[in-house]
Amino acid sequence: MTFPKRTHTCGELRPAHIGARVVLNGWVHALRSFGGVTFVDIRDRYGITQIVADESSPDHVRQVLGSLGTEYVVAIEGIVRRRENPNPRRATGEIEIVAESIVVLAQSELPPFEIAEHDEKPLASEELRLQYRYLDLRRPSLQRNFVLRSAVYQIAHRYFAEHGFVEVETPILMKSTPEGARDFLVPSRIHKGKFYALPQSPQLYKQILMVAGFDRYMQIAKCFRDEDLRADRQPEFTQIDLEMSFVTRDDVLELIEGFTATVWHEILGIAVERPFPRLSWRQALERYGSDKPDLRFGLELTDITAIVADTAFEVFRKAASDSGIVAALVAPGCAGYSRKQIDELAELAKKHGAGGLAWIKWTDGAVQSPIAKFLGDAVLDRIRQAIGARDGDLALIVAGEWERSLVALGALRTAIAHRLNLADSSTFRFAWIVDFPLLEWDGDQQRYVARHHPFTAPMEEDLPLLDRDPLSVRAQAYDLVCNGHEIGGGSIRIHRTDLQERMLELLGFSREHAHERFGFLLDALRYGAPPHGGIALGFDRWIMLLAGTDNIRDVIAFPKTTSGLSLMDGAPSEVSPEQLDELGIAIATDHRSGRATPESDSRTS
Ligand code: AMO
Repeated sequence: MTFPKRTHTCGELRPAHIGARVVLNGWVHALRSFGGVTFVDIRDRYGITQIVADESSPDHVRQVLGSLGTEYVVAIEGIVRRRENPNPRRATGEIEIVAESIVVLAQSELPPFEIAEHDEKPLASEELRLQYRYLDLRRPSLQRNFVLRSAVYQIAHRYFAEHGFVEVETPILMKSTPEGARDFLVPSRIHKGKFYALPQSPQLYKQILMVAGFDRYMQIAKCFRDEDLRADRQPEFTQIDLEMSFVTRDDVLELIEGFTATVWHEILGIAVERPFPRLSWRQALERYGSDKPDLRFGLELTDITAIVADTAFEVFRKAASDSGIVAALVAPGCAGYSRKQIDELAELAKKHGAGGLAWIKWTDGAVQSPIAKFLGDAVLDRIRQAIGARDGDLALIVAGEWERSLVALGALRTAIAHRLNLADSSTFRFAWIVDFPLLEWDGDQQRYVARHHPFTAPMEEDLPLLDRDPLSVRAQAYDLVCNGHEIGGGSIRIHRTDLQERMLELLGFSREHAHERFGFLLDALRYGAPPHGGIALGFDRWIMLLAGTDNIRDVIAFPKTTSGLSLMDGAPSEVSPEQLDELGIAIATDHRSGRATPESDSRTS
């Protein structure tokens, strides 16, 4: 098709262009007519420009104008002139184009929702917008996110190249090495009954690249995890993945602080304070009730176990005698909270694992609490002093197992901060969380599981505890957190086969099973593995923070819903019987009807 090609973009024209003949190509954003004058806003990803035609305009212009609808694609030629009523909210708001000719390049059906209106807060449901993602992506606020994302890719490639990193691609079809999340599986046609897995991360490959002598590896890598989704989680997501040889923890942290500062400076013009504070995992939980604390606000938790251990309140006594914790949080100025508001907080605490929620209010010098009679005035006063509560404040108290109770109170801390508007979205508070426990006990599986992953090295000084007291062994692992999000995680790795085998044994892998699953890594470690460590940055979460959104789908072009559906193309979908036959797969009949049964995993034949 030949068509008048644009001389400028829709975001480019300024008063300096007045009098020029120009051609714009773009989408009809909005149309309106007043007393014989028609205004057409046309839009491309650079901006919006107003086009005008009146009764003196050529007939064919008025005819085409009359046929236009929103989202038509047009080429418009005309003369730039100064606007009588400038629009200061638009970069092109001082000028308009008097149309001399208009060509329709493509028509559009009536869009199912308006792109023009409510750009920042669209009225249409997210489901509808995801189904018509190509229309949703026309929204200027979404387009800005992807331009930003693209800029951060460029900074990442440049920064790590400048620091001597080599970009290497690792396979997408790999061996299933399930640990952590569930694998997505891909059946092999040639080897019927066998499966590839999509990588949860390039972890094993990047370690093997260190054994291969690459020294500094980097990749912007797609990762796939079949896990429950949340606002900042997707089943496929992107990491900036790194690995380095001959380094200690501090080398990795310093490199990443430099990268973070470069990105924040270049994208937002913000000078990030360095070095980032470091908090041990224990401190993070004790002070903030989270291993990814939001440090934009205080609201620190206080351990009041010693104060309440001998009171008549059985829940507190039991928590204390079971080596648990009783911890409290002050909600400043919230003594006026209604029963209903407190019930909502109690529900939230329970959702996060608390057995219940106790509370105390101080108003006009009086104390009000359902447990006041069990505690007595002296204890109530000691609690008030310990947590620094003032008149008008509300104290929220959770008692029970240490980690669970702190995490529940941490969730309340975040909720209260949001209600009180304490989390300013233009402030960024970074921190490293270090000294994680190496292992945790999984009550369902009745075995230890790795908190980070099974390849993370224990702290040298804790090695003797591996046999005696595995749960108290700390890992050489670190997480980067910002504003309540975990935006990166990594560790120094085990580079000795014997220690790696011991670790897998602790995790409940028999020698045979360990070799069947991870034999290639264990073998590689036998051939001169350098000490190494690395990190992966959650790229999508970085873009969320930089773009100022709390929805990860706003920074992924074609995201999945929280139930893992791609509403635009309909994935996942059924496949033809022929495709299944070729793969040697039969689907249990209950699946076709969509009925899930306890034994509903796909079977291979
Ligand atoms: P980890 O599992 O901590 O470490 O992942 C690194 C970072 O990736 C981000 N992330 C996610 N982002 C969106 N959706 C998800 N489902 C999701 N899961 C994780 C987080 C997280 O901090 N191989 C190790 C890294 C290493 O040890 O070097 C790993 O993948 O921001």
